[in-house]
Amino acid sequence: MYETINSPFNLGGMQLKNRIIFAPTTMGLPKDEYYKKIDQIARGGCAMIIIGDITVSKTLFGRSLYSKKGFAHYKKLAEIAHLHGCKICAQLFKSDANMKAMLKYVPGVLTKKISMEELRNLLNDQVGKYISSIPEKKVKEITTDFGEAAALAKMAGFDMVRVHGDRMCGIFSSEIFNCRTDKYGGNSKKRVRFAIEAVASIRKKMPDLPIDYNLSVRQENPHYGNAGVLVEELPIFIPLLEKAGVTSFHVTLANHSELEDTIPTSKHPYFPEEGCFLKFSDEARKYTKLPICGVGGLATPDFVETQLKSGRIDCAAMSRQLIADPDWVNKTAGGHQSTIKHCIRCNIKCLGGMQKHQGVHCIYDKEEK
Ligand SMILES: Cc1cc2nc3c(=O)[nH]c(=O)nc-3n(C[C@H](O)[C@H](O)[C@H](O)COP(=O)(O)O)c2cc1C
Repeated sequence: MYETINSPFNLGGMQLKNRIIFAPTTMGLPKDEYYKKIDQIARGGCAMIIIGDITVSKTLFGRSLYSKKGFAHYKKLAEIAHLHGCKICAQLFKSDANMKAMLKYVPGVLTKKISMEELRNLLNDQVGKYISSIPEKKVKEITTDFGEAAALAKMAGFDMVRVHGDRMCGIFSSEIFNCRTDKYGGNSKKRVRFAIEAVASIRKKMPDLPIDYNLSVRQENPHYGNAGVLVEELPIFIPLLEKAGVTSFHVTLANHSELEDTIPTSKHPYFPEEGCFLKFSDEARKYTKLPICGVGGLATPDFVETQLKSGRIDCAAMSRQLIADPDWVNKTAGGHQSTIKHCIRCNIKCLGGMQKHQGVHCIYDKEEK
């Protein structure tokens, strides 16, 4: 039973013990609680954990690979994963928030006149203008930083890096936001340049490192996602990314709309079902032979096994299901699938917890207390 789920797989030159990957999930938990969660997930049998949103910049805000403290944190995460034979991948990103504009809103946030949700919308509104005004020289510096950060991630113990095709990459890719008139803006070939430079910078610095690309797809009719690329642009984006050095793709819906579109509940008007973003993986599959990891509401062993066995996807990434039950893989391998706590995609304590600054939890957590 579930032979494909539990079969090893070569992902861009790196051997995974099975096909299940923990999707990038920012948790907003205190440090020790976060380490405990990552330990539970690694111990539960998944083949790889992707650590979400690791900045490529030398920033004073949040954790960075460049600081002693930040580097030690990422090293610790790698050690935890490896202790359980689990690989670990660093999702490298560059923020698209205009920090200078953000300073203007600090008093409003501190006096609670502006909520974090409102701040997010205010910054999102300016993202196109901001991205379109960054000088070419600075853009080149940012894409070069991807290579620097990848080298540090490898030193910290990461087995793989992933270029976040959303955030700044996604904004450059999108004709909705990117209004540049230089070599980084205009047609699809020009809009993909930022992503290609980021990937090429990693490849130049780290010739053997597997590079996954988080391909963020925007949809029209009905419109979902604002950053990223249209399905029609995939035949241009995918071969160029591949040529630059990408070794696998992770396909999902593009961001910069409502968070509940990229992390949809089971009541979402358009993406309510299990495997809701796999139709985008199907589109990507037409243009590459590289491994493709699917994501989006994946939860039941039978459904996941069918998608993997048919070759529709090569690996299955899960965020909320492994938060609900970190032992999903071990239970599936050991014939205990009937005891799995199934994620019902309610978003109450995971995304909801994050939005309320209470950290990511699950409605099932209470049961264990
Ligand atoms: C609480 C939470 C935090 C997330 N943080 C990130 C993140 O930092 N970076 C990212 O690319 N995706 C993030 N995601 C999106 C997931 O990686 C995934 O694409 C999405 O949840 C759909 O998968 P699922 O149905 O298995 O949860 C997050 C999801 C959740 C629930």
